[in-house]
Amino acid sequence: MPSPLHDNALEQATQQILRAAADPALRPVVETVFDQATFTASHIAHDPATRTAAIIDSVLDYDAAAGRTHPGTAADIVARVRAQGLDVAWQLETHVHADHLSAAPWLQHEMGGTLGIGQDIVRVQDMFGTIFNAGTEFARDGSQFDRLFGDGDRFTLGSIPATCLHVPGHTPADMAYVIGDAVFVGDTLFMPDYGTARADFPGGSAADLFRSIRRLLRLPDAARVFLCHDYKAPGRDSFAWETTIGAQRTHNIHVHDGVDEATFVAMRAARDATLRLPGLILPSVQVNMRAGQMPQPESNGVSYIKIPLNVF
Ligand SMILES: [Fe+2]
Repeated sequence: MPSPLHDNALEQATQQILRAAADPALRPVVETVFDQATFTASHIAHDPATRTAAIIDSVLDYDAAAGRTHPGTAADIVARVRAQGLDVAWQLETHVHADHLSAAPWLQHEMGGTLGIGQDIVRVQDMFGTIFNAGTEFARDGSQFDRLFGDGDRFTLGSIPATCLHVPGHTPADMAYVIGDAVFVGDTLFMPDYGTARADFPGGSAADLFRSIRRLLRLPDAARVFLCHDYKAPGRDSFAWETTIGAQRTHNIHVHDGVDEATFVAMRAARDATLRLPGLILPSVQVNMRAGQMPQPESNGVSYIKIPLNVF
C-alpha cells in the first residue's frame, strides 16, 4: 500500500472527485438493483452525455438445492439498460465474491462490456485453485478476465474519468472503482450503522482492511459511496447502499475517525469468529475465480461444483 505522504493514486482520485463536484457532467448516474437473496447491490453507472454504462458486481441467481442457475436480478439489469438505451462498456468486479455467483459472462453475452477485476486476482486464483485442486484446466493468470487493474490505473466511462484503488483486506485483490465522484467500495465499508466487511476468508487481513478503509476515508467528504451489500441494521428496516465519505468518517460504527488499528483488528477478529460462512461460498468461489464461468464440463457435458470436506 502506498505511503499516505506519496499516494499518487489517491491524489488522482481526489482531484477527479473535486472536478466532478464542480461539474455535473463528470458525475455518473447510478441505478441499483438489489438482490434480496444474497443482500447484494449491483450498480449500473452511466455517463448521461454519451450513455455509456458500467455494471458493477452483478448477481446470477443460484438454487443451491437443485444446482441450477437463473438470470434473476441480472435480467432486471438488462431490462433497465435496454429501456434507457445505454451502451455497456464495462463489467466490473470489485473482488471474487464468496456469497453469490457473478452474472458477468451472462451480461457480457447479452450486452457486451469489458470484464475487469483487480490484478491480484492471480493470488486469489492460486489460493482457491489449490484448495479446490482445480488442476491445469484452471489458469491462475487472470486470463479469464479482459482487463486486470492495478492501483492508480485509469479508465473512462464515456466522458467521465475513473481511477482504480487497490483496497485489500476482505480479500487480497479487492478494488474500489472511483468513477467521477462515485466510489464503488465493494466489500470494505458497509453502511455507517452496520460497519465493515469481514476479513476472515482465506487471504483476508483485518489490518489490511483497516488501512484500505482509512485510505478511502481520505477522499473528499462529498464523494458518493456505493456499497456491495446491505443487511439492514438495528433500528433500520429498509435496505440502503449509498452514503458519503463524510458520513462514513463521522459515523461508521467500526472505523469512524479516532478508531485505531489495534482496536479495529480486535473488534473484527472477535466479530468474524461469530460469523458463519456464507451459504453459497463453495459454488461462488469456484465460479467467480473463473470470472463467472462454470468449471469445464466433464465428458457427459455437465459442469460440476466440488465440495471439499473438512477444509473450510
Ligand atoms: Fe465479498
